[in-house]
Amino acid sequence: MAQPPSEVQTEPRSVIGQVNGNGNGGGMPGVLVHGGTPHLVGGPHQSNGVGVPAGPRSRISRRVRAMPASGIRRFFDIAATMTDVISLGVGEPDFITPEPIRLAGQRSVDVTTRYTSNSGMLELREAIADHLENLYGVRYDPVKEILITVGVSEGMQIAALTLLNPGDEVIVPEPCFVAYPAAVMMADATPVLVPTHADNSFQVTGDEIEAAITPATRAILIGYPNNPTGAVMSRERMLDVARIAERYDLMVMSDEIYDRLVYGVEHTCFAALPGMQERTVLMGGFSKSYAMTGWRLGWIAAPADCIEAMTRVHQYAIMSAPTMSQYAALEALRIGEEYVRSMHAEYDRRRRVIVDGFNTIGLPTFEPRGAFYTFPQVSHLGLSSEDFAERLLHEEHVAVVPGDPFGPSGVGYIRACYATSMEKIEQALEHIERFVRRIA
Ligand SMILES: Cc1ncc(COP(=O)(O)O)c(C=O)c1O
Repeated sequence: MAQPPSEVQTEPRSVIGQVNGNGNGGGMPGVLVHGGTPHLVGGPHQSNGVGVPAGPRSRISRRVRAMPASGIRRFFDIAATMTDVISLGVGEPDFITPEPIRLAGQRSVDVTTRYTSNSGMLELREAIADHLENLYGVRYDPVKEILITVGVSEGMQIAALTLLNPGDEVIVPEPCFVAYPAAVMMADATPVLVPTHADNSFQVTGDEIEAAITPATRAILIGYPNNPTGAVMSRERMLDVARIAERYDLMVMSDEIYDRLVYGVEHTCFAALPGMQERTVLMGGFSKSYAMTGWRLGWIAAPADCIEAMTRVHQYAIMSAPTMSQYAALEALRIGEEYVRSMHAEYDRRRRVIVDGFNTIGLPTFEPRGAFYTFPQVSHLGLSSEDFAERLLHEEHVAVVPGDPFGPSGVGYIRACYATSMEKIEQALEHIERFVRRIA
């Protein structure tokens, strides 16, 4: 096991990755200036990095070549070519964005169609700060500690690019959302996957994280409530992670996009744990709780130095999150609570039916306490997850997603999303039962 950082590090480190610059000078980080014309380090004049002349070169960077295409998308693409497919595949609400929220977005374009500040509208950041304080008792400065992003998707990317240096390791419990390892790899860092299992409620333990720590470990990336398992991490387990983060001086990237979708348990906000606000990059968004996936809006709450650095990355990549969506999000925080509650109640009803259904059919299913996914086991049927999903799609026109793309511990499982109508869930269960009887 690695030693705590006081013993393995020789100098204090910045929590910010190379966004701080690499000492090349020229006034801009990572940029050399020759004859007054800036060009980026790593341009076409560079060797291939291994000391030999480059042969025929791929037009695609090594970084992106190393990144597999999302295994989830493939199934949606097949399903899209078929008619009458009952989809338990896509992880997004079947509800339309509530009307007052839609109207607020629509009305905004009569008033402004311009960029907002890079950080996002201050009014929205203030509303998010209040929201977090009301829910979790954690207070962020809306001016310096909150950044509005294009969903958690962008948040994850800029957090990784900002915190990580090439070669850093990030501990990622799996099965996990497919974008986590990808975001780490995009920053030329290495995701270190730590398995979780149904018999441990798909929650990672402090010991498991600690066993994966090396001197290169920089951060832990967690996402609870979890996609694809629906697991929620208990406060005790979160405290374990917090202790490890403190002991080894690690940052924690916490994707809490499903925070409002928990059933019969409480969500613990990682940043609200004692001492954790200063080492957490907390990510949240509007896509799931408010049925606003297409508006592409999320936020990051983090210490001011991290937000300042992430804002630089965001500024160059995005400029500012969509203005109309920011107005809609502001309305969501103002009046959205009753809609969140009613969608939550409906998800919970469906959750019980689908979990019960799978277990009755003979697909052992862990009881998910969060998000809107179930993760039934199919390995005992003698088909790989992929074959199960593919045959189910072709033979019974039901789309689910194989568990493998979510990490090695997803092998032998499928993900079925219950963000679809009760009627479709019941039909899907009938079809799945017929399929399972046929192959069993
Ligand atoms: C765990 C998790 N995080 C982030 C996202 C992406 O969220 P956003 O729409 O805010 O980009 C998803 C979408 O499925 C998700 O499941």
